[in-house]
Amino acid sequence: MLSDMGVSKSRQLQKLREQVKNGGGEQALEKQMALGKLSARQRIVDLLDNDSFQEYDMFIQQVNNAFQSDGDAVLGDGVITGTGTINGMPVCVYAQDFTVAGGSLGSMHAKKIAKIMDRALKMRVPLIGINDSGGARIQEGINSLAGYGGIFYRNTMASGVIPQISVVLGPCAGGAVYSPALTDFVFVVDKISKMFITGPEVIKTVLGEQISAEDLGGAKVQCEVSGNAHFFAKSEHECFESVKKLLQYIPQNNSLKAETLPSCPPKFTNIDSIVPSDAREPYDVRKVIACITDGSDFFEVKANFAANAVVGFGRVDGQSVGFVANQPDVMAGVLDVDSSDKVAEFVRFCDAFNIPIVTLVDLPGYLPGVDQEHAGVIRHGAKVLYAYSEATVAKITVILRKAYGGGYIAMNSLHLGADSVFAWPGAEIAVMGPESAVNIIFRKEIMASENPDETRRQKAREYKEKFANPYVAAGMGHIDAVIEPQETRTMIVHTLRMSKDKHIDRPYKKHGLFPV
Ligand code: HXC
Repeated sequence: MLSDMGVSKSRQLQKLREQVKNGGGEQALEKQMALGKLSARQRIVDLLDNDSFQEYDMFIQQVNNAFQSDGDAVLGDGVITGTGTINGMPVCVYAQDFTVAGGSLGSMHAKKIAKIMDRALKMRVPLIGINDSGGARIQEGINSLAGYGGIFYRNTMASGVIPQISVVLGPCAGGAVYSPALTDFVFVVDKISKMFITGPEVIKTVLGEQISAEDLGGAKVQCEVSGNAHFFAKSEHECFESVKKLLQYIPQNNSLKAETLPSCPPKFTNIDSIVPSDAREPYDVRKVIACITDGSDFFEVKANFAANAVVGFGRVDGQSVGFVANQPDVMAGVLDVDSSDKVAEFVRFCDAFNIPIVTLVDLPGYLPGVDQEHAGVIRHGAKVLYAYSEATVAKITVILRKAYGGGYIAMNSLHLGADSVFAWPGAEIAVMGPESAVNIIFRKEIMASENPDETRRQKAREYKEKFANPYVAAGMGHIDAVIEPQETRTMIVHTLRMSKDKHIDRPYKKHGLFPV
């Protein structure tokens, strides 16, 4: 039985808990709701398994700053931190509370986040940050900047060790976007998420430019234009469901493999009727992926950015696999600045977290042209070469149709360390496509002929017969086998089983210097 003293102590605790749960007060909370946003606490409840949340540092005291009266400091300092489970697996989580000083990051707020990050790294569990913050708390000056520095340092230390997921749910500025940028996946929600290094007000003051927060850094801008975000959702609930789905495909940390489920066949089996034989005709490569994955499920990453490449997760034989594919439906599937970044980033994630990579190839090569050259296609394109060469997970390639030039090498060729490279019978593997090739090697002959167009066509036919097929590459051992499209899944399953214990030692180095 509790003593009177015990009862009053218990009441005090209850009262303090209520005070913390009230965040920035009812009015601020109502304002948040009116914007269609959940509260920071509701977000955690929606994200985690029922009743699994354990909160830490509830009573951390906000540091009084020069602009506050004594006693104005808010308990908890505008961020909720703790542990819980998702799909039964432990995670660490923090959620910034915009109702307290716009979720801005003061020194104690930063300390709470740093503590939960340290816990995540120590326990080797994923970290999920729900960001809703105006960035460094201006009133706390350099101490806020110091707080962000500590968070960026921890993001970097945890990178490649535990999965780090950022959910951006509000107008996020400054450090509140730089920390997500250092993490593995960024989720945004239509109309709710905004990301920028400084908001419209500051831009107007400094540059005289006028733009709405939505146009500057809304969810669509981040998913379609800048590529800063990986997943787009229409509502916060849909967004949290997406986070849960992602976690099913990835392991808890870099010393584990993602959970294996019982194997099941794809729902779609029409793999031999998807790719047109005319190498110039487009098709949706996601239909090919659907004929390979268990249940035809595919969880696409960055679906609306650089759509000329498709990346995402699926299961094959129950095992989580990262798919990388050229998308002939968009710009013939070429590699350009943005798609190179997208592919390299995804390959590196899969490699860091022991997820085998299946690459489906159908591309004319890297995109030429002044714009791309000036945008740094050499620098960006090299990231693909580096990421594939560096990766030590099982790496399987299937050449569906075109594999020309640098594109052939870059898309996980045997030369970059692929474990198995298969080609379909219609594959064309050559330095370049017939039309471009004959214009270079037969230029004099074509110009001198009576009918240059007919000569060009004739030479292109001859070139195609001679070079644009899989047998030259097969004859030199540059691919492992020519397979029927229907054999694709079987060969991938076989290779995955063979490479279960794959092990490669790399020469010692402090770290590589790509990709940046
Ligand atoms: C202190 C802040 C704040 C901040 C917002 N607030 N940002 N308080 N420091 N950084 C407070 C506001 O004063 C306001 O308080 C409440 O939060 C809600 O803000 P509003 O402006 O009313 O909301 P909204 O119109 O939705 O605009 C949100 C916003 C805007 C776009 C985030 O507040 C804004 O532009 N803030 C500054 C963003 C910024 O430039 N941050 C960069 C910091 S530097 P009241 O009391 O009125 O409710 C940084 C460096 C990191 O982060 C290092 C990177 C390498």
